[in-house]
Amino acid sequence: MEKKRKISIIGSTGSIGTQALEVIEKLSDKFEIIALAGGSNVELLEHQAKKFSPKYLCHNAKDKTPSGLSAEILHGEEGLEQICSNKENDIILVACSGKIGLKPTLKAIKNGIDIALANKETLVMAGDIVMQKACENGVKIIPVDSEHCAIHQCIKDIKQVDKLIITASGGPFLHKSREEMQKATVKEALSHPRWHMGKKITVDSATLMNKGLEIIEAHHLFGMDYDDIEVVVHPQSIVHSAIEYKDGSVIAQLGLPSMHIPIQYAISYPERFEGIKSKSFSFAEIARLDFEKPDFEKFPALNLAYHAGKTGGSATTCLNAANEEAVFAFLDGKITLCKIVDIVEKMLSEHKVIQNPSIDEIFEVDREVREKTQNNIRKFSN
Ligand SMILES: NC(=O)c1ccc[n+]([C@@H]2O[C@H](COP(=O)([O-])OP(=O)(O)OC[C@H]3O[C@@H](n4cnc5c(N)ncnc54)[C@H](OP(=O)(O)O)[C@@H]3O)[C@@H](O)[C@H]2O)c1
Repeated sequence: MEKKRKISIIGSTGSIGTQALEVIEKLSDKFEIIALAGGSNVELLEHQAKKFSPKYLCHNAKDKTPSGLSAEILHGEEGLEQICSNKENDIILVACSGKIGLKPTLKAIKNGIDIALANKETLVMAGDIVMQKACENGVKIIPVDSEHCAIHQCIKDIKQVDKLIITASGGPFLHKSREEMQKATVKEALSHPRWHMGKKITVDSATLMNKGLEIIEAHHLFGMDYDDIEVVVHPQSIVHSAIEYKDGSVIAQLGLPSMHIPIQYAISYPERFEGIKSKSFSFAEIARLDFEKPDFEKFPALNLAYHAGKTGGSATTCLNAANEEAVFAFLDGKITLCKIVDIVEKMLSEHKVIQNPSIDEIFEVDREVREKTQNNIRKFSN
């Protein structure tokens, strides 16, 4: 019998995590779960543990403890590190949101465990270090983000590639005016036309900061210069991204808009299984595919991300920290949607960039920028 691939999921209770478990349920003869980790949704974790029988279960809730399970219960950052040090794992899916992803990813890399990476913030915070350590330790980082997963599938030899073309659905405000965006409620910002995702990434999609983070992610994953990474708006989300070769050939990856496919690709790589596919792709049913240039004035987050990326060093750490704090403030009703990017711009303009920061310097920049951002938010919201 074929050996099962042993996997742990960080963020199993989230949008990517739950969809990953749907994939694994269909492929139960291919995967064995070592550990599941979530944040505060202990009830869902318990439910998942009963269904998938992991050896370890990790949560971050102060006042709740999963009960009646055979799994060893772990807690917080230490628990995540323990999971990511367990060499039983063949692969770890890092599917938590925000800065929490960086430490477990580094731990898994140190232990030579391959990573299916959904958490783009890890590469925005510390892409140079993460990619260098992965290379030194012979660790594969397979992208889950549909755009990067598409590019990963298109590339045969990166040296022959002239340009990456990242598609963007455009989010809920694609055809709304800047004035309408100024007045957007949290509910409107969370109404993404194509994807049902966690709150942080959904707000990032509304400001197009998500695409900005993806530009930086693509730079690190594929080693492309920022000038050779282009964004195109494609509202149908059928073409997940493309690459242009030196000779003018363009290779794109297409598929129905479902995260099951990139998740399955990333955790199964280099194999492909039948798994989750529910419907065959039909060009005739899709009928049309539209593309347009992004509006850089309406969505200044894109230029900010290019600017931070080209500046390099700790600039992208600053961008990520300021953005995350500003998104939380928007979700808490403290600032308006457009203020998110204003605040990020201000934090970036005041940031003293450290070139080639150490990992400790990155964590320190992250802490400082978050503190400063919170102080600014207090001023904005008073
Ligand atoms: N959703 C998508 O379609 C999509 C597509 C591409 C990329 N991504 C990326 O994938 C990542 C996850 O996105 P998502 O939409 O799945 O987010 P989400 O639905 O908000 O899920 C976040 C997950 O992280 C967990 N978490 C929070 N604090 C934690 C902690 N301290 N320790 C361990 N786990 C913790 C949450 O647990 P609790 O809920 O239990 O608190 C939840 O399981 C993001 O970086 C996003 O940019 C997502």
